[in-house]
Amino acid sequence: MSELSRIGVAIDSNLLAKFDALIAKRGYTNRSEAFRDLIRDELVETAWEKPDSQVVGTVTLVYDHHVRMLSEKLTDMQHDHFHQILSTLHVHLDHDNCLEVLVVRGKASAVKKIADALISTKGVKHGRLTITTTGSEL
Ligand code: NI
Repeated sequence: MSELSRIGVAIDSNLLAKFDALIAKRGYTNRSEAFRDLIRDELVETAWEKPDSQVVGTVTLVYDHHVRMLSEKLTDMQHDHFHQILSTLHVHLDHDNCLEVLVVRGKASAVKKIADALISTKGVKHGRLTITTTGSEL
């Protein structure tokens, strides 16, 4: 970690009260860490906007494995991108439904494309890409 800098921030009292209530609910014990997390979150979002930046994230999929050829299709797509898909967790939620969580890493543009293709596959009931960071830039 680099040297610590102290800054003063002028903020509307009502807004600050709302911020304090929000961060208390989320379990923060001080404002500084909450501010730092907000800043980091914005930096992560910004990194994902650059197509060539190296990113990491997870893709969550819920689907019915009885839908014809769906499991095979999703597995084929994952094999096509084995460089970007590092790991897959599969949970059989009930008799019909499966939950998969894929850990993805690579260029932001490639990772987004893979996530979009998986999520938009016919028969996938719900899907979401969660973006995060390799941590090296923060
Ligand atoms: Ni399953």
